[in-house]
Amino acid sequence: AIDIAKLRGQSGLITIDPGYKNTGSTKSAITFLDGEEGILRYRGYNIEDLAENSNFLEVSYLLINGELPTTSQYKTFSHRITKHTLVHEDIKKILDGFPSVAHPMGVLSSLICSLTAFYPNSLDPNNTDEEIQLSIVRLMAKMPTFAAWAYKNKMGHPVNYPDNNLDYCGNFMKMMFALPSEKYEVDPVISRALDKLLILHADHEQNCSTSTVRIVGSSQASIYASISAGINALWGPLHGGANQSVIEMLEAIKNDGGDSKKYLEKAKDKNDPFRLMGFGHRVYKNFDPRAKIIKKAADDVLDKLGIDDAVLDIAKELETAALNDPYFVERKLYPNVDFYSGIIYRALGIPTDMFTVMFALGRLPGWVAQWKEMRENNEPIGRPRQVYVGSTERAYVPMENR
Ligand code: ACO
Repeated sequence: AIDIAKLRGQSGLITIDPGYKNTGSTKSAITFLDGEEGILRYRGYNIEDLAENSNFLEVSYLLINGELPTTSQYKTFSHRITKHTLVHEDIKKILDGFPSVAHPMGVLSSLICSLTAFYPNSLDPNNTDEEIQLSIVRLMAKMPTFAAWAYKNKMGHPVNYPDNNLDYCGNFMKMMFALPSEKYEVDPVISRALDKLLILHADHEQNCSTSTVRIVGSSQASIYASISAGINALWGPLHGGANQSVIEMLEAIKNDGGDSKKYLEKAKDKNDPFRLMGFGHRVYKNFDPRAKIIKKAADDVLDKLGIDDAVLDIAKELETAALNDPYFVERKLYPNVDFYSGIIYRALGIPTDMFTVMFALGRLPGWVAQWKEMRENNEPIGRPRQVYVGSTERAYVPMENR
């Protein structure tokens, strides 16, 4: 039985909801999600429509400002982002301090947080709307530079400066994959697939990292510090790390002889803790609308690159077998977005520990939009309560008497 007296805090009744499964933390006008129907909308626009017809910068504008941009608004927004892609040279010294074994997510969050030092004006909680828009532009512009530099640092390669003649994804791919002296041709099929992936990851209402961004921002910390905290929250394997787990699972199956049927049976065995990574979703119970879109993009990329990779063959076998297996069909376990995103990243030659960085690149406009909404709504500082279960009052015991 629930002891109401125990649940009562000093200022009224306290509810306990571990993981906040049923607790809304805010009202939001940004993203609508219906897990039963498999619906995801940004600002009222269906994700399918946006992925087909829009591009990542336009979707970013929509999320951040609430409306699709006019031609001139879009031009100004993308021009400003292109203009701010360069970062202060001293940030390279911070990068140089990281050993090459540093996880790129730690490097990324540190470099983003370092922007508080280069733009100390952002520490002022009374920044004007114009100053906030400039911080947002800087974040959108510099994040791909930092992400590519984190990769270069890991590889021990010299960093590439941004190429402002390229679009958002093309510039990122060049900074990632080209040597500084090299001419680099952006492949439109690959660039479009990457752009779609970013759109699909751009927001997903009050998930762990987004809630983190809002709660850090609610203390009036700088937008850069808030986004840096969001990157750290995304880093965990239960959140952004799932796409990495998919590829690790596929590699394990390959190394064990490539028998995907055996692993399908293992996943169905209730005495075996193994689960098919990339299948099932807490919220989407019919299908993950993002997965449907990304599957097509994954097929396009694999076709285009003509890739022959045993790991990707295993992915295809598993997918077909699971979709035709009553265990998975009855439990409504469909491939989720992470199943296919990992496959595309691998096909593009992106190493597994960069997968979550790619997720962060996509999620940035969502974090920014949610931070801005929290601020515009003048939300109070986030401060959950607890139910205390520790000792009752005790007298201090001097050390020699313990
Ligand atoms: N493989 C095998 N069986 C599964 C799987 C799976 N991937 N997922 C769920 N099941 C089974 C469960 O064993 C359970 O079976 P039962 O009813 O016979 O006991 C039933 O399906 C329901 O599963 P729950 O765990 O209750 O579903 P829940 O909604 O709590 O879990 C989750 C969702 C965590 C995503 C789960 O499906 C899972 O672990 N999937 C693999 C990990 C993964 O891909 N995570 C990424 C999610 S997407 C994202 O975070 C961006």
